[in-house]
Amino acid sequence: LGSPILWAESRASTNDTALELAEKGLPHGAVVTAGEQTGGRGRRDRAWASPRGGMWFTVFVRNPCALRHAPDLTLLAALAVCRALRGEGVPVEIKWPNDILLGGKKTGGILAQIRAEGELVDHAVIGIGLNANFPIEELPEEIRDRATTILHAMGRPIDRPKALARILMELDRLYRDLRDGRGFQAVHAEWTALCSTIGHEVEVAIGDQRVRGMARSIEPDGSLVIETSPGVTRTVVSGEVLFSER
Ligand code: BTN
Repeated sequence: LGSPILWAESRASTNDTALELAEKGLPHGAVVTAGEQTGGRGRRDRAWASPRGGMWFTVFVRNPCALRHAPDLTLLAALAVCRALRGEGVPVEIKWPNDILLGGKKTGGILAQIRAEGELVDHAVIGIGLNANFPIEELPEEIRDRATTILHAMGRPIDRPKALARILMELDRLYRDLRDGRGFQAVHAEWTALCSTIGHEVEVAIGDQRVRGMARSIEPDGSLVIETSPGVTRTVVSGEVLFSER
């Protein structure tokens, strides 16, 4: 992964550029990045503030996995980011399924979008956004209590090219395993150890519905087990209910 790297000063959204280029033969492994995004997108159609100094990039993969393993793309990207930033001395954690936290506050997120052909993922764009080297004042006021930047939290900037290279290296390794049929399961224990969600009260959006409860565990397939009331659990995968029990 990481060849070619398509850099531009400014783009609306690196995910949108990658989705457009996908139709024009963008090769597997390409990375679309930008100095700033003017129309950055988050999950659930939210706007994603993307000022200069951050890391805004999208990794493009062809035929990554079976459709039923699509949620792994996000989970493995979160792990790659975590491994890479920890390697750079930034002690991030994961909030299930796709948030990167630093000191309990959101400092990054992942937005994977897939195109499927039958039971297979034909291609996917994995958008990664990291609030890296800019002051917290550049984030919208309404999220400043819940979000942070690496510069703000650590009091120092990170080496962005080095961090990008590390993330791509980790992701490459994890996606090779995914292609070979070893998906999330192989990293389940490591992922769980890095996940700050377990043992905390959570609210998960499942379509228009909200489920509240105590996050109890992560299943070997990456879904989250929530105890909604004493003895009653629900298992959700990427905001989708798999089953309810008891
Ligand atoms: C989230 O937590 O809601 C996901 C945020 C994902 C943001 C990244 S930045 C690069 C890529 N391009 C986008 O427009 N979004 C993703």
